[in-house]
This record gives sequence, C-alpha cells and structure tokens, in this order.
Amino acid sequence: MDNEKKILIVDDEASMRRNIVDLLSMKGYSLLEAKTGEEAIDMIENTTLDILILDINLPNMSGLEVLKLTKNNYPELPCIMLTAYGTSEKAIEAMKLGAFDYMEKPFELEEFIMIIERALKHSELLKELKQLRYKVSSSKSEEGSKIISKNSKMQEIFKTIGRISATDASVLIQGESGTGKELIADAIQRHSHLTDKPYVKINCGALSESLLESEIFGHEKGSFSGAESQRKGLFELANEGTVFLDEVNSMPPSLQVRLLRIIQGQSFFRVGGTTPLKVNVRIIAATNKDIEDEVKAGRFREDLYYRLNVARINIPPLRDRPDDIHVLIDYFFQKYSPTQKLILQEDSLQNILDYHWPGNVRELENTIHRASIMTTDNIIRIDKLPHETNRRTNLNATLQSYLNDKYSFKSIIADIEKKLLTEALKINNYNQSKTADCLKMNRRLLYSKVNEHSIIIK
Ligand SMILES: Nc1ncnc2c1ncn2[C@@H]1O[C@H](COP(=O)(O)OP(=O)(O)OP(=O)(O)O)[C@@H](O)[C@H]1O
Ligand SMILES: [Mg+2]
Repeated sequence: MDNEKKILIVDDEASMRRNIVDLLSMKGYSLLEAKTGEEAIDMIENTTLDILILDINLPNMSGLEVLKLTKNNYPELPCIMLTAYGTSEKAIEAMKLGAFDYMEKPFELEEFIMIIERALKHSELLKELKQLRYKVSSSKSEEGSKIISKNSKMQEIFKTIGRISATDASVLIQGESGTGKELIADAIQRHSHLTDKPYVKINCGALSESLLESEIFGHEKGSFSGAESQRKGLFELANEGTVFLDEVNSMPPSLQVRLLRIIQGQSFFRVGGTTPLKVNVRIIAATNKDIEDEVKAGRFREDLYYRLNVARINIPPLRDRPDDIHVLIDYFFQKYSPTQKLILQEDSLQNILDYHWPGNVRELENTIHRASIMTTDNIIRIDKLPHETNRRTNLNATLQSYLNDKYSFKSIIADIEKKLLTEALKINNYNQSKTADCLKMNRRLLYSKVNEHSIIIK
C-alpha cells in the first residue's frame, strides 16, 4: 500500500534531497523533488501528494511561505519542516502555521521514518473525518465572510436575501463552482430569524449513498457494520433551525424521495430505526448544475424541485460580471497583504479581465493570494499569474510547437479547431446549443464538427 504514497521533498541542497530520496525510496515511497518554493507550489497544485517535506530556508520564496499557501489550499496535506540546528523561532512559527512536525538537520533516520509514518496515518484519519464532517453551529456564523460585489445582478440578490430573511421559505441557490453559493447560504441564515438556532451543512456530492443516508437520517446501533452506537441524523440536529444541502443535484434518487417526505412534514426513521421522528427545518439548497436540466433529464425529482425552489437565487458566473473583478481584487489584496499596498501591472489586469475564470471567485481569490506571496515587491507582474490566464503566451507557445514539429497547414488548422470546440463545449457544460450560440455558429455545423473530430461529450 505504501508504494502508492507520494512524497514531495523541497530543498535547495541537492545532497540533502538525494539522501532523503534514497532513504525513502528504499521504504517503497514514490518521491518527487523541488529545488525552490515556486517549483514546489506548481507540483503541489498539479499532483496529489501524501506528504510534503519542506526545508524552511529556501531561496526567494521561503519554506514558511510555501507552508502558508499549502495549508490554506490543501489543509489536509501534512507538511514536515526541515530546519537548521538552533532555529527554534522559525520552527515554532511553522507549527503555528499548521506544520505537522519538524526535524532539525542533521536528523536521525529512524525518527524521520517514524514521523513520516505518523504523518501518513494522520492524513488518512483527516481524510476520513472530512468525509464525515458536517458543521453544527448554534451561534452566528463567522464574521468576515463578506460578500463583495457592485454588480447590479448581485445587488438584486442581496435584496432577495433581505426579502426572504423574514420567511421560512426554502431557497434554491444555483451557480457555477466558486461563485459564492455557500457564502450566500450563510448570509441568508445569518440574517434570518433562525440565526441563533442550529445551522447544519451537508455536502450531498461528497459522500456515498449509504453514508449520506446515515448522515442525514441518523442510524440505530447495529443497523449496519460499523454502526457501533446510535447516531442522530443531521435533520434531527438541525431541528428548529436551518439545513444547508450543498450540491443537492447529486443526491441519489432514493434519498430524494425521503427528503421530500421530510419537507412535506411527514415522519421519518433513522437507518434501522422503528421510532417515527418529525422535524421542522428551513432548507437552503445549492446546485452547481442547471437544476431544470436535471429535472428534464429525470435525474432530479420534479416534486422535490418545486418544494426547494420556493425562493430562487441564480448567481451569475464571474465572467458575466466583469465589474466585480476590480472590487474583488482590491478586497483580496487587502485580505492577503494588509500591510503592503499591492498594485497590478497593467498587462496583468488585462489578462485577468480577459480570462474566463471557470473556477469563478474562488479561482480569482487563489490567484491573488498566490501572486501576493510570490511577488518580491508590491507590483504583481504577469509572470506571477497562473499560466492559463495568459491567453497570448499560451497561444504563442502552441503555435511555436506546431511550427517546430513541422505539421502541415491543414492538420494545424484541424487541431486548433478541435481544441477551440472542446474548450467552448467545456465552458458551456457540454450543452451543444449553448456552445453553438456562444461561437455564433450554426448548430448543425457544430454537431458535424463534433463528430468529425470525435470530441467526447461528457
Ligand atoms: N462575492 C464574493 N466576495 C468575497 N468572496 C467571495 C465572493 N464570492 C465567493 N467568494 C469566496 O470564494 C470562495 C468560494 O465561495 P463559496 O464556497 O461560497 O462558493 P461555492 O459556490 O459554494 O463553490 P463550490 O461550488 O465550489 O462549492 C470562498 O473563499 C468565498 O469566500
Ligand atoms: Mg460550495
């Protein structure tokens, strides 16, 4: 099993990396190496790692900065820091930032292996916990979760939040990934008269059907192997308060029926239970797919849809509200660099405005956070932005590679056409009519091109 565990070692000293790689590959781990923090960040973002071993003293971007960014974006990834003898201040700082442990160089091999094994166990436990985690809070949600926007459609949403706050109506929030669905759900709960009542969140897309069932409805002791004690379901815990059902579109059909019954005020049973239970909860649901399409396709029950869709909020994707980009950038600058005033170089701003932001505000936030750490002065230049935001460079590089490989004109054009159509389909969730509209092309032509290029429609 250990054979599959991936460990990234980040150290600017080649001999140190060599020693660790030799030692750990003998134990059957798969090792990756990086010389700098920048290189490490790229690898962390593009690989699924099990452990990060990080030298605290790196050139340019320091180990602590890499740690901070990693813990922010990948909180479950255990980071073991390597420190030079006697640098306790930095070691303490590292632990405060969430490092799993640290080793002073030179270190004992046996102790090192032990720490690695502990870290792996710890990360497995965390992964399990994350699967089962839900949030129960009876107090107000954390402050600081401000929704920033000056876009007129978003202003309408704020008004809707105000209007529905006085009611118990179910709310359905639809928006692409990273548009702020959870942020808005929190705001609705915070402003509602149920603000001091329980608030329970559950992600319907993250759990298997049986786990989700027992999370939502609870289970009796011994109702399945592993059910060592009785457990209340989330609806019971949320009684008299609010439930946030995230990714409700992923809920399996059998659970959709049971959810409908609860909403209709009928009684339900815990898994393996015989006592009928009743609850009274306000439901806020979120979907990242077009829910009407899901209903039409028969994947989502129509009757449940009507019950959830009493109040409706559609959050526009970030690319449809370019007027928000400036205010959000300012907000994230302030959040991630409160002491130093950051400035975007003009070209960087243009790239940001041109990009289509498939990951929406979350992607913009990560981009700004990362750039604010990577920059050495207060100016954010293009090279500190992720590659994909740079349309021009990407295109130039692609063209260069065609020319270097000496393809024929015909095959280059065919390849570009295929890439363009694939990307357009992806952005439009593989909806062919929307894609044709977006490219202002005839639908029939699109269908025949999709066939011609054997593009897979997901
Ligand atoms: N208008 C906004 N102002 C400030 N921060 C925002 C805004 N919208 C989103 N964010 C930030 O972007 C991140 C993603 O937001 P959130 O988790 O609410 O999105 P989501 O739609 O639920 O995403 P997903 O579909 O991936 O679960 C969070 O860090 C949130 O604070
Ligand atoms: Mg969410």
